[in-house]
Amino acid sequence: RLPASVRIVEVGPRDGLQNEKAVVPLAAKVGLIDLLSATGLKTIEAGAFVSPKWVPQMADSAEVMARIARVSGVTYPVLVPNDTGLDAALAAGATEVAVFGAASESFSRRNINCSIAESLARFAPVVARALAAGLTVRGYVSCVLGCPYEGEVPAEKVAEVSAALFGLGCYEVSLGDTIGIGTPSKAVAMIDAVSARIPRDSLAVHFHDTYGMAVANIHAALDRGIAVVDSAVAGLGGCPYAKGATGNVATEDVLYLLDGLGIASGVAMDRLLDATRFISGVLDRPPASKVARALIAR
Ligand code: HMG
Ligand code: MG
Repeated sequence: RLPASVRIVEVGPRDGLQNEKAVVPLAAKVGLIDLLSATGLKTIEAGAFVSPKWVPQMADSAEVMARIARVSGVTYPVLVPNDTGLDAALAAGATEVAVFGAASESFSRRNINCSIAESLARFAPVVARALAAGLTVRGYVSCVLGCPYEGEVPAEKVAEVSAALFGLGCYEVSLGDTIGIGTPSKAVAMIDAVSARIPRDSLAVHFHDTYGMAVANIHAALDRGIAVVDSAVAGLGGCPYAKGATGNVATEDVLYLLDGLGIASGVAMDRLLDATRFISGVLDRPPASKVARALIAR
């Protein structure tokens, strides 16, 4: 019951670069997104309109949005935590925004400085206003397989927050294993709990690869009917509010898996590797992706 096709949501320019210690030049962010736009990816998360005090690396998201060459058929979502963020996203001409909550109270507090209930109350008017302006809205839930502060997170809590975001009008809810701690059987149990409340075709999975389990978890999720997968070119990233968490699963690894399973994604590996080489050069380190390293070395 694997899906015939999968949409890859490229989050490298946002989730990847938000965590870099050194400032990544504006031109490099734009160059990366423009290379990704030529790969066949349909969704490329381009930045975040969050407080620059909290995440300085995303402070130039408006300039990024202004300078990228938007390719027709490709969507460039941005994160917005509140009304201020939505104002900036609208001014930047975003057509999709994402609100981001968590299934763990402690993580919610550290990441967006409010409780889960407060965050949902804050998102409600933001989502309504974005929808009224003709945008699409995605929702994220963090800590779906564990929290860096609280440990275990009940699948029921993940389902409850996901259903709330879906109820606000998010067309898709992305289930984030923020610290990359999950294993396939746990991932499947969590997905099943959420799917009892929201249709499976409105769910995406967002695995960080801290423990190297992301590809196994994604295979299990695909087998459970999930057909949207978030990933980051070169395996960039981490979360500034989740210590020790490493990058997202690499887009190259996801694509290699999908190609191997005969699942269509529309993404061309050789074009993707152009983006990998570029950002690895900018950051002056090899890609985290084993697939990228193997293919670039050939
Ligand atoms: P706060 O301090 O409670 O907010 O932060 P506030 O409303 O009291 O505002 C404080 C100051 O920030 C004010 O400025 C506001 O104007 C400004 P001041 O008067 O002090 O000069 N401000 C803003 N500036 C720009 N853009 C905005 C904005 N909002 C307020 N949107 C807040 C609350 C939510 C703003 C803050 O906590 C924040 O920005 N958090 C974002 C954290 C973040 O970006 N985390 C990473 C993304 S989430 C993630 O990576 C997980 C994910 O990948 C899934 C997964 O892996 O699990 C999605
Ligand atoms: Mg993430």
